[in-house]
Amino acid sequence: AVTGPVLGIETSCDETGVALLRWQPEAPGEGLLAHTLYSQIKLHADYGGVVPELASRDHVRKLLPLVRETLAEAGLTPQDLGGVAYTAGPGLAGALLVGASAARAMAWALGVPAIGVHHMEGHLLAPLLEADPPEPPFVALLVSGGHSMLVEVAGIGHYRILGDTLDDAAGEAFDKTAKLMGLPYPGGPALAALAGQGQPGRFRFSRPMTDRPGLDFSFSGLKTQVLLAWQGSDQSEQTRADIALAFEEAIVDTLVIKCRRALEATGAARLVIAGGVGANRRLRAELAAAGDKDGFRTYFPRLQFCTDNGAMIALAGAIRLAHGQHQDATVQVFPRWDL
Ligand code: KG4
Ligand code: ZN
Repeated sequence: AVTGPVLGIETSCDETGVALLRWQPEAPGEGLLAHTLYSQIKLHADYGGVVPELASRDHVRKLLPLVRETLAEAGLTPQDLGGVAYTAGPGLAGALLVGASAARAMAWALGVPAIGVHHMEGHLLAPLLEADPPEPPFVALLVSGGHSMLVEVAGIGHYRILGDTLDDAAGEAFDKTAKLMGLPYPGGPALAALAGQGQPGRFRFSRPMTDRPGLDFSFSGLKTQVLLAWQGSDQSEQTRADIALAFEEAIVDTLVIKCRRALEATGAARLVIAGGVGANRRLRAELAAAGDKDGFRTYFPRLQFCTDNGAMIALAGAIRLAHGQHQDATVQVFPRWDL
């Protein structure tokens, strides 16, 4: 079994994340020794979205300096490492290969095991990095730029997908809607900030797929509703904020309704929220309020561990390595990979 700290590497999209974590089952968060993040947002902003080739090249530039910085922050040397974990998918193939190659090379040179981690398992386990972590069984709402899923977690590694998106993911819906109202990339956080200045009640959009049973999502129709409202309006700053608010209300309401359903269906008493959209303040507040009312407890990662980061990959990898799992020394990534 692995004894030393595990180095975690995340390069699936436009953030280079690195962390060091020593696995301790009782309080995983206390085992986090250091973490660093470099965001490529500025690099891609001019293009209105992530440019895969630029992302790969920037990971190449930033990854090793970040590894050095993280080791220094923890007061460790490479020789102290017990293993290396990296995101093996899903994500951009070239970007994933940068992390996978670096991780494999380091592990091989140091003679320690390496393990490829599923990015969404990383997100799903991120709430365990906080004090008073949730015990399985629980239901997880995974809402990021690429995924909107409800997952029943019977234990670490035991996942059942309860619901998935049929089209756009929640974060994708935020980003696309922001773009069509002229907000700069990345639109999700900008749209959410704008919603804070909106007047309630001026616009109302539908809560997709809540009028029939089931736990799947569909968010692409909301985009069209927003487009029509925006094009038919005076397109003033206030109107943009009012539409942003109505859009955010529609997404958050829909997510809350489906979470309640999932908890009812499974009988779980704990709800874990993870992924970039988990950083949304309205979503956090409404889910916490629903929990107070219905008697379930909500668990959120801190904001910086909602979006992509190395700590969640170090954690997911450290758990698997502690259970004796690792893989042969081949560099292999899975751009599309089911949880
Ligand atoms: O998990 P993440 O960092 O990357 C993926 O794995 O996709 O999630 C990024 C997504 C983006 O779509 C972004 O717009 C969204 O999370 N996001 C937000 C907020 N912060 C990030 N969406 C709504 N409100 C926010 N505050
Ligand atoms: Zn992510």
